[in-house]
This record gives sequence, C-alpha cells and structure tokens, in this order.
Amino acid sequence: MLCTMLLPTLLLAALPSTVLAHPRYHNSEYYTLGCPPTTKPFASQHEQLTVLTNFATEVFVQHNLDQGYNTYAAKNFINHAPEISGNGTAIAIATQGPMLKGGTTEIQRIFAGRDANGTSYGTIHFKGISLKLGVGDIAGIWRFAGTCLVEYWDVATGVYNSTNPIAYF
Ligand SMILES: *[C@@H]1O[C@H](CO)[C@@H](O)[C@H](O)[C@H]1NC(C)=O
Ligand SMILES: *[C@@H]1O[C@H](CO)[C@@H](O)[C@H](O)[C@H]1NC(C)=O
Ligand SMILES: *[C@@H]1O[C@H](CO)[C@@H](O)[C@H](O)[C@H]1NC(C)=O
Repeated sequence: MLCTMLLPTLLLAALPSTVLAHPRYHNSEYYTLGCPPTTKPFASQHEQLTVLTNFATEVFVQHNLDQGYNTYAAKNFINHAPEISGNGTAIAIATQGPMLKGGTTEIQRIFAGRDANGTSYGTIHFKGISLKLGVGDIAGIWRFAGTCLVEYWDVATGVYNSTNPIAYF
C-alpha cells in the first residue's frame, strides 16, 4: 500500500520537466482540462476501475449526474459522443439528464486498462431503458489522466428483434 502511494510521487520527482511535458504522460491535460480536486494525476488500474464503477453507478444507475461528473470528470473533458453537441461536463449533464430521466440502466460490464503506449482507458457497457429513446445497447469509452476522466467516445444501437436468443446482452 505504502509502495503504491509512494512510487508515483518518487517517479514524478525523478523525472525532468521536459519528460513530464511530453504528451505521452497526458499530465498537462489534467490541469488544462480542469480535473476536479477529488481526482489525482496518477493512479493505479485498480483505482481507475473504482472511479469508473462509482461514476457509472452515480450517473447511469442513480441518475445523480451532477455528483458523478463533477467528482470524476474534467470540467472541459473532450467529448466525441454524437448525441452530446460539445465538450465538458455542463453540456453532458444537460443532455444526458433528460435521456436518463424516468428510465433504468442495467450495467453489463466495466473494466479499465492500458493500451500499448501506456494510456489508460475504461469501458462501461450497459443496457439503457429510456422513456425517451427505447431500449439501447451502449458502450462508453473513457480515457483517463490519473483518476480523472478526460476524453469520451460512445457507440450505441437500439435493441431490435434478433434470431440470436442472446443478442446484445
Ligand atoms: C473539444 O475539444 C477538442 C480538443 O481540444 C477540440 O478539438 C474541439 O474543437 C472541441 N469542441 C468544441 C465544440 O469546442
Ligand atoms: C502509440 O503512439 C504512437 C506515436 O504517438 C502512435 O503512432 C500509435 O498509434 C500509438 N499506439 C496506440 C496503441 O495508441
Ligand atoms: C419482435 O418480436 C415480438 C415477439 O415475438 C413481436 O411481438 C414484435 O412484433 C416483433 N417486432 C418487430 C419489430 O419485428
């Protein structure tokens, strides 16, 4: 435990600022995109999984969007989801709130990990039962800077009759 907490600090102290400024580390984004003080710029995979699980529960299951976004996401996170017209928490909350209202969400699976370059991502796969939009099969992908959610993509489809008895879920 001591090691996991100390190691990032020691590494940080040992790295020259030119290395820290390299985009690979994504740390400058932690500040420029406005990560909240409830997050930190370095994290383990386990910590990121915990963050994504809490975020998914607060936003999609409990519909407490303000708390979920403002606790875990950068104020100006980069958004690629087509149903949300711009970047940042304010527009995401304003758009997703009405989509989720009165409906339910069944989380299918949540995971977090790193790609070949060491960049951290996490995925939330869920069944959305929306009063407004019907039943959907949705996968949301987040990129992390430490424990902070900084970039988002999603892929979504409506749920239709299928000859496959285990279609979608
Ligand atoms: C969102 O952020 C990205 C990355 O900084 C930028 O390229 C894009 O133009 C921004 N979108 C809007 C609508 O400002
Ligand atoms: C890793 O970084 C290199 C150089 O920036 C890039 O070309 C490559 O696509 C990245 N690989 C992945 C898996 O993101
Ligand atoms: C889907 O299947 C249900 C049950 O068999 C049926 O009632 C419904 O009409 C079907 N819907 C479509 C769009 O084919």
